[in-house]
Amino acid sequence: MATEEHKYLADIIKATHATLREETRSYGPEIAWERHVTRKDILQKYASSMHKLATTYWLENNSTSDNMTLCRVQWVKSQCEQYFLNGGLQKYNDREEYIKEKINVDFVETEDKQSINNDLESRNFVDPSLQRKITLLDVGSCYNPFGTFDMFDVTAIDLNGIPEKVLHCDFLNVNIGEEKHFSADNHELLQLPQNSYNVVVFSLFLEYLPCPRQRYICCKKAYDLLQPGGILLIISPDSKHVGANAKLIKSWRYILSKLGFMRIKYEKLKHIHCLIFRKCVYKQVAMKWANTQTIPENDPLYQDDVVFFIPQDFRNISCQDKQEERHVYDEEELTCMFNELPFDET
Ligand SMILES: C[S@@+](CC[C@H](N)C(=O)[O-])C[C@H]1O[C@@H](n2cnc3c(N)ncnc32)[C@H](O)[C@@H]1O
Repeated sequence: MATEEHKYLADIIKATHATLREETRSYGPEIAWERHVTRKDILQKYASSMHKLATTYWLENNSTSDNMTLCRVQWVKSQCEQYFLNGGLQKYNDREEYIKEKINVDFVETEDKQSINNDLESRNFVDPSLQRKITLLDVGSCYNPFGTFDMFDVTAIDLNGIPEKVLHCDFLNVNIGEEKHFSADNHELLQLPQNSYNVVVFSLFLEYLPCPRQRYICCKKAYDLLQPGGILLIISPDSKHVGANAKLIKSWRYILSKLGFMRIKYEKLKHIHCLIFRKCVYKQVAMKWANTQTIPENDPLYQDDVVFFIPQDFRNISCQDKQEERHVYDEEELTCMFNELPFDET
């Protein structure tokens, strides 16, 4: 049975998303966002509700579903192990070199000055005596779920997450420069260092942003922050079957390929899409995939290269309103993980 507390927490999450979407429709995304980030009390309530949902209710539901259902945090950890410690990085370095040979164009490395020796990087990760940790930026971290793993050196940021666990930072508006800059009280990150992270994680993050352009801006920022050869992991809630949003997921690959990312993994677990995109050393290698696609004419997903859509963007507004007014929960609705989040509303 869904408890009263679960319903209460779900209401807080849903109401926060509903208000943000409503204000985006009324005032446009920039003004709506400005208003949203000033509401510290609401953001704080959201963070503690999300923390409780994630560490109590979603875990309970997860354990009762089939064994193939991996929790998103474990999925990220095991994928990073595979990529950095078990040969993945080297494998994709080789693949890039192979594709580069085949497509005969003038190549420019992603970062001229900072053309890293990936081979050396990969050996450093494997050799424990070098004590090299994987640098991971967790965007929209809320409660720093990756902070417990020794293999990561985590920078956990959130608009307003659980205090002591995460740093305040609006990723949409943060500067990117040479090094980290903190606010005077050290609680807020004002600038993040470019080309410096091995991993950027967007776990249940992109759906929070109400507009496709804002999501694209965040993907571009992830690109700028990653080292060449680094990876962006996107976890997106969706309890539907794998084919239901396949067109949309393909459009993500297209947009990110144009940015310089190569998709190296896609898995649909019971309640989430899990994707890994590698920042290619050679941008042309990443773009090759997009350039060979035949884009359906007049398809709204491909009308603009600087947008990142989710199903929520195409939902009928009156149907959304009806859903938001309906404060009745049936059992299935609440046991469906992540149903509180915008992507996954049915
Ligand atoms: C649904 S929660 C996901 C929390 C956690 N990553 C997880 O997987 O359980 C989304 C989080 O993203 C944060 N967030 C949204 N927009 C943000 C932004 N522009 N900068 C930093 N954090 C943001 C929210 O405050 C919220 O805590």
